[in-house]
Amino acid sequence: MSFSKEIQKRRTFAIIAHPDAGKTTLTEKLLLFGGAIQTAGAVKSNKIDVATKSDWMEIEKQRGISVATSVMGFTYKDIKINLLDTPGHQDFAEDTYRTLTAVDSVIMVIDCVKGVEIQTEKLMEVCRMRNTPVICFINKLDREGRDPYELLDEVEEKLNIQVRPLSWPIGMGKSFKGVYNLYEKQLNLFTPSQRKLSDDRQTFEDVEDPRLEGLIGVGPAAQLREDVELIEGVYPDFDVQGYLEGKVAPVFFGSAVNNFGVNELLDTFIRIAPAPKSRHTEVREVLPEEEKFSGFVFKIHANMDPNHRNRIAFLRICSGKFQRNRPYTHVKGPKPLRFSNVTQFMAQDRELVDEAFPGDIVGLYDTGNLKIGDTLTEGEDMVFKGIPAFSPEIFKEVINKDAMKTKQLEKGLRQLMEEGVAQYFTYDIGARKVIGTVGQLQFEVIQFRLKNEYNASVEFAPMNLYKACWVHAKDKKVLDEFIRSKNRHIAYDKEGKPVFMAESRAWLQMVQDNYPDIQFHFTSEF
Ligand code: G4P
Repeated sequence: MSFSKEIQKRRTFAIIAHPDAGKTTLTEKLLLFGGAIQTAGAVKSNKIDVATKSDWMEIEKQRGISVATSVMGFTYKDIKINLLDTPGHQDFAEDTYRTLTAVDSVIMVIDCVKGVEIQTEKLMEVCRMRNTPVICFINKLDREGRDPYELLDEVEEKLNIQVRPLSWPIGMGKSFKGVYNLYEKQLNLFTPSQRKLSDDRQTFEDVEDPRLEGLIGVGPAAQLREDVELIEGVYPDFDVQGYLEGKVAPVFFGSAVNNFGVNELLDTFIRIAPAPKSRHTEVREVLPEEEKFSGFVFKIHANMDPNHRNRIAFLRICSGKFQRNRPYTHVKGPKPLRFSNVTQFMAQDRELVDEAFPGDIVGLYDTGNLKIGDTLTEGEDMVFKGIPAFSPEIFKEVINKDAMKTKQLEKGLRQLMEEGVAQYFTYDIGARKVIGTVGQLQFEVIQFRLKNEYNASVEFAPMNLYKACWVHAKDKKVLDEFIRSKNRHIAYDKEGKPVFMAESRAWLQMVQDNYPDIQFHFTSEF
């Protein structure tokens, strides 16, 4: 197969959702359709049960599961699909944000009872940073959910994206009859079943077809006709280009656990979702069709066994063909790297591969050379953009409890930060070390892993901080002056970038007003 065909047949995406909306269930059904797994129940939830979070086995288990399901590759109708998993627990949201930098599109699952939830909104903000195309799947139609019009309005309003329903539900909950596919003019009748694979589909010329009454009943048929007329009147025709630019989200309705609506979601997905897209580096745009290989690391998994501290780095291939055992330039690294142990993830198996193409994700066994955000190339000196750090939400100062183990502590912290477990800031004054995370759970993970893997003991002292703001000014002198005058509140991130540690929103606002020439950013890339 030609190189450009290899690229065109790939779709790399992630499913995102607020916990419990049905991400794991939908993942499993997609894998069933793709023939990647044979039975339901094969995909393990990667959720950490908060009630058992002090049970460290849970976290160990989670880490094991998430390696296995980090990338699920399967082939459907000749399309090679790479589905990237994202952590179920919201305390690991930063992991999800980074994974989103490695995909070309997303499917967003929304619970029809709960509507748009907080995590959905945050994830959407991240998608917006790169104009990632979004398909919405409104799930759990077998439950008494909210009015579909209201749900669509909420998506538009809270997620700030235009929507275009491509299917429409007939009833809901107990009276749920199925969905009408507005695009294909097909009626899919609902029969609750967790096992069956294909939907019972009837094709129509249009909704005026008199068979409709017989299939769904007189009342629902009249309602459907009214709804279809209204939708076609209110929403402009579905604009695929608008979807590809991240401006319009097509919406499907279904019930993942009943396997309902999943088939049409997948069929539409492979038709409209983008093949591997170009990516930006600091110096230029890189097209997937370029002959020379390039890629970046967006995720690192450490081995839990302290005696074998090798890790798996997950590399997204952006251009060219990646080949096993070829030396590649590790941009900004000390030496070229070659990888003999390269894995791809097909369904839940890992297999060794010799080559991989743009859009693919490979796992590279690494002994500690790679870190998140690193770029590999065939010689060119460029670094992929788009793996920003986001301002943490919780900050704590690191207190070393065992002075004899300072070296171990430093090494452990450095390695955990390279894996992206949390962020690390060092204050300008007093060299105080602060860890910032999205959730409380990460502190427990860090404390546990430092002890378990590095034999270092730490405690954390809470700090009253609102946000870490990466600061920038056009004129370096202005920035230097700002840093000097606010030095009690200045820290540096792991790359040495200056960060203003704001104690409250009001105070940040005041400082912003007083220093109009300084830009304050909640992400490390802008
Ligand atoms: P998540 O990964 O997004 O967190 O959600 P997950 O798929 O684990 O689904 C959360 C719960 O919602 C599960 O129930 C799941 O069975 C249920 N669910 C998913 N899709 C549907 C659907 O279409 N209709 C209905 N009624 N429920 C759905 P659970 O009780 O937490 O777990 P389980 O014991 O049922 O697996």
